[in-house]
Amino acid sequence: MTPTYPVALDLAFRRAVVIGGGAIAIEKARGLVECGAVVTMIAADPGADAEELAAHGAITLRRRGYWPGDLEGMSLAIDASEDEWTHATCAGEARTHGVLLNVVDRPEYCDFHAPAIVRRGPLRVAISTSGESPAIASALRARLERLVGDEWEPLTALVGRTRRGLRSRRVPRDRQERAYGRLLRPEIRGLLRSGQADRAESLAVEAATMATTAGAPPNGRVALVGAGPGDPGLLTLQAVDLLATADVVLHDALIPRTTLRFCGDHARVIDAGKRHGRHGCSQDEINAMMIAFARQGLDVVRLKGGDPFVFGRGGEEMAALVEAGVDVMVVPGVSSALAAPEAAGIPVTMRGVASSVAIVSGHQRSLRDRARELVRLRDLAASVDTLVVLMPLTALGDIVAALTPVVGSDRMAALVSCATWERQRTVTAPLDQIEDAALEAGMEAPATLVVGDVVRVAGGAAAAAVARTAAPAAVSLPA
Ligand SMILES: C[S@@+](CC[C@H](N)C(=O)[O-])C[C@H]1O[C@@H](n2cnc3c(N)ncnc32)[C@H](O)[C@@H]1O
Repeated sequence: MTPTYPVALDLAFRRAVVIGGGAIAIEKARGLVECGAVVTMIAADPGADAEELAAHGAITLRRRGYWPGDLEGMSLAIDASEDEWTHATCAGEARTHGVLLNVVDRPEYCDFHAPAIVRRGPLRVAISTSGESPAIASALRARLERLVGDEWEPLTALVGRTRRGLRSRRVPRDRQERAYGRLLRPEIRGLLRSGQADRAESLAVEAATMATTAGAPPNGRVALVGAGPGDPGLLTLQAVDLLATADVVLHDALIPRTTLRFCGDHARVIDAGKRHGRHGCSQDEINAMMIAFARQGLDVVRLKGGDPFVFGRGGEEMAALVEAGVDVMVVPGVSSALAAPEAAGIPVTMRGVASSVAIVSGHQRSLRDRARELVRLRDLAASVDTLVVLMPLTALGDIVAALTPVVGSDRMAALVSCATWERQRTVTAPLDQIEDAALEAGMEAPATLVVGDVVRVAGGAAAAAVARTAAPAAVSLPA
């Protein structure tokens, strides 16, 4: 099917006719009146709503059926008569007079399809399936109704006023764009949502002044944003919002391309991550980049795997930004420390099985660190029910050797690799066999180790409870 071409018609002071007097006809007439059209309604048996619209002078009501010639001089016609002869005659007349016609629910007669619409004042989001599936259009509209809050109405007006001001002062395009970027920041919508229109207005004035004043722009802002364990479905709404408006996105190696699709078209997307056999940027370089971009007036998203503050060096990045005098905000993410066990169907706590959980890193920077970390690991293992070890792969043997004397060699362990990704895999085995099981299964990074009786629970309920696109492959060794 050939797709239709969407347009937004300016119908102010143009003549439009609606044929029929039922609920759909009334809805169409109201929509046209709202857009400034001069509306005639033709209905043999008009209901109370039509009479009321006519009584208020909103429409001209002809209390009769359609007559050939009714479309003459019209810019647009909507036939909601549900009458076959009217449909066919109207369609012929529309063609003769070059009038755009929509016959409700009869695509074969239509010049245009009525899209499903999300209305926020002057802002209109119109959804069309080219007549293929009105059900899809209305399902999508229902979703957008929830996503696009009422604050978009005053925002559209605010940006409109700012735009007219900047254009009348002939401000260069790139400076205008920067001002609009500021107005699209989530915090302005937050102000409008909470009824603080005055504060939003003064930020808009500030952005406009900035655009018209020569010299360096004020600092941008850095958002340290958690991207979750991989599945983009686990991004927060705030993360999605910030990605859509960021000028620069500086991301970790483990961020999948499906997540980066949420970056805006104009965003500069930079992979700052380290991967096997490939050195990414050093932490100092990453800090320096974030500070430099912010000082150019750009809004930066530093997109980090999982949660920014769980073994993600997010704390260090925040400290460096604060020291440099750059505004920083932090958006929590779903940490793999909880998501990885969960994706494998392992509850980290469960009544009667485990009432405490500790999250530790299995990564040791030096030999001296290693000895100290392993002692701490042993102490922790002795005092909690469930131990979650991030970055366990390089020192898995050492970790197992440290834990076994404390929790016993038959304590169950699970290694979850690439949790929530298409290629998620889990191996479970008694602690003293987990390294062999991992080797045998060729488990790859990123992986998370879980040690505790809760792993046994997963054997029964398993990952069936966890919604994910791909079914995880599981390899289990008997206890
Ligand atoms: C440097 S830490 C960062 C943790 C991250 N900030 C978080 O909250 O998830 C990286 C470790 O997180 C764990 N990890 C990250 N993504 C994972 C995933 N999709 N599946 C399993 N483990 C994951 C692995 O243990 C990996 O070595």
